[in-house]
Amino acid sequence: MIYTDQAAKLRTLQGYNMEINNLRKNNSSEEKIASIDTKPLTRVIAITSGKGGVGKTTFAVNFSIVLAKFGKKVLLMDGDLGLANVNVLLGLVPEHNIYEVFKGKKSIKDVIIHTHYGMDFIAGANGIAQLANLTEEQREEFLKDLESLEGYDYLIIDTGAGVGQNVLGFLKPADEIIIVTTPEPTAITDAYGMIKSIVVNKADRKIKLIVNEVETAIEAKKVADRLIEISAQFLKAEVENLGFIYKEDIVQKSIRNQRPLVVAYPNAKSASCILHIAKRILNVKGEEEIGSGISGFFNKFFQIFQDS
Ligand SMILES: Nc1ncnc2c1ncn2[C@@H]1O[C@H](COP(=O)(O)OP(=O)(O)OP(=O)(O)O)[C@@H](O)[C@H]1O
Ligand SMILES: [Mg+2]
Repeated sequence: MIYTDQAAKLRTLQGYNMEINNLRKNNSSEEKIASIDTKPLTRVIAITSGKGGVGKTTFAVNFSIVLAKFGKKVLLMDGDLGLANVNVLLGLVPEHNIYEVFKGKKSIKDVIIHTHYGMDFIAGANGIAQLANLTEEQREEFLKDLESLEGYDYLIIDTGAGVGQNVLGFLKPADEIIIVTTPEPTAITDAYGMIKSIVVNKADRKIKLIVNEVETAIEAKKVADRLIEISAQFLKAEVENLGFIYKEDIVQKSIRNQRPLVVAYPNAKSASCILHIAKRILNVKGEEEIGSGISGFFNKFFQIFQDS
């Protein structure tokens, strides 16, 4: 029995060595092997919605903090190219933002803010839509900068609302897309419109749903079931229900005080909903799920603008 186990182990080891050797043959540099062996890729999650004001930024901020509390290395990026306001929720006044990186004035490391909430943050800026006009050289420079960022477990991108090209640019290349809606009929209709846009644009990404500002769990389930059903029926799209967040005045209070909900009121019902969702992301989908990496994400992002 022992011998059998050892033989099996040996075979596995031999197989492993053969695979590594094959990889070595296919990759010119040994460094590439080292990075395959040791560097986990970043899981890129974009948070979006059809209708505006449904709670994307509130969720993105608190979700990032919770992931960081779980010991994950998290980078939260404000990808709202219209009204960047993640910094407001965090109570931060950023000196620099990502626009300066696109303009080549700063390196990406210069604009990363290490927050005292555990996660890192890149502030957005109104007007960064111009990044679509980056030259090849600027793009190369930016991607090189991003390479140095690898090491993050999660890149969370808070996007703007709606099906514009700027928002879709951030969605298509993400590993996962979280769509936030509320039970309002207009928000549900727009969420469906967003799912349709993603499908039409052939973004073969995992689409997940959060129903925010609900009064009861039953209400949340009804909304989610309806969206999941019509997406399957009319779009042949598979949408996963990630969970819901209760509507509570305390959420608004935390925003007014510029103190994130999960920090200021960790025992609030809405805060435990966010914790629940984060646990789902960490456990159910498996924390070792491999992302495409930050530079992979931005490569695809720029590609979209060039294609359009
Ligand atoms: N669970 C909740 N309970 C009560 N109020 C909430 C909840 N979630 C969000 N809100 C309220 O909704 C407002 C909008 O939230 P938020 O800015 O996060 O939305 P958004 O989708 O990012 O908006 P935009 O589309 O403008 O970027 C907040 O100011 C807050 O008052
Ligand atoms: Mg927002």
